[in-house]
Amino acid sequence: MQKIMITGATGLLGRTLYNTLINDFEVIGTGFSRAKAPLHSLDLGNQHAVIDFLEHHKPDALVHAAAERKPDVCEAAPEQTIALNVAASEFLAKQCAQRGIHFIFISTDYVFDGKAPPYLESAQTAPLNLYGRTKQQAEQAVITQSKQHSIIRVPVLYGDVAELAESAVSVIATQISATEKTQHDNWAVRYPTHVEDIAFTLRDLLKHPANLGGIFHISDTQAMSKYQMAYIMANILGYSSTLLEPIDQPSQSAARPHNCALADSRLNNLGITHQRDFKVAIGKILRNVAT
Ligand SMILES: NC(=O)c1ccc[n+]([C@@H]2O[C@H](COP(=O)([O-])OP(=O)(O)OC[C@H]3O[C@@H](n4cnc5c(N)ncnc54)[C@H](OP(=O)(O)O)[C@@H]3O)[C@@H](O)[C@H]2O)c1
Repeated sequence: MQKIMITGATGLLGRTLYNTLINDFEVIGTGFSRAKAPLHSLDLGNQHAVIDFLEHHKPDALVHAAAERKPDVCEAAPEQTIALNVAASEFLAKQCAQRGIHFIFISTDYVFDGKAPPYLESAQTAPLNLYGRTKQQAEQAVITQSKQHSIIRVPVLYGDVAELAESAVSVIATQISATEKTQHDNWAVRYPTHVEDIAFTLRDLLKHPANLGGIFHISDTQAMSKYQMAYIMANILGYSSTLLEPIDQPSQSAARPHNCALADSRLNNLGITHQRDFKVAIGKILRNVAT
């Protein structure tokens, strides 16, 4: 049985990756500050600890999902962001290459500038903010360090959360109100994608390792702004949508791309498609957190 290591297994994506892949593979999950057994705490900034961990566990493949993913946090703490998103990713890729471990790097649609969607896997990257630049630099480092690598670009993610603020999608439910007017970005076009669909896709790829290698795009296809997501959530929660105000210009502090639609042409060719209806899926998540 293949042994798969996952970094960031305490995070939004890594947690669901762990819970999904464990059904088909031997899985070792690592987190950092939130890691509790069976997950291991491994500081990716500690190179000796990383080497010891790889030597001890000897995985066949490593899915690297740990990162700082909030653009505004990245801009506020550039040194820590570069250390985790770029330096630690490069070191891990190099260590994996030396041990014949397939390195699967989770990247983002924010490596694109959002001016010419849809983006094929081969499209030129041109990030607009520090978060996107660190992921672009990490992609380049992975390509340089490792011959056995896969780069997986994903758009904004949602899924089962301990608290709604954990995802840039479900946090919108905390920003709308039953009694007061609230404003929501209606400029950037997003493709909210459920973490379970990313996990199912990676499971399918890992089951046939010959299909791995190079760049993959994984994305749901329902296009919507945060205002449109807020509208759906307001309906689910029984709030009046007349209290929602759309903002039609870019409004956040770190520059965001307009529309980074990811064309998942390689997965289409492989016949791998895992998607779901946003309204149904977010309704289930909001009900789970409320109960
Ligand atoms: N979320 C999105 O909307 C989105 C969109 C596009 C791409 N992505 C990419 O998808 C991947 C997963 O994102 P996510 O949303 O699941 O992230 P997340 O929920 O913010 O989780 C981040 C993970 O990184 C770990 N981590 C932080 N510092 C660490 C360190 N020094 N050493 C080891 N681990 C450390 C955290 O561990 P502790 O919490 O235990 O400290 C946590 O498991 C990332 O590569 C991200 O760039 C995410």
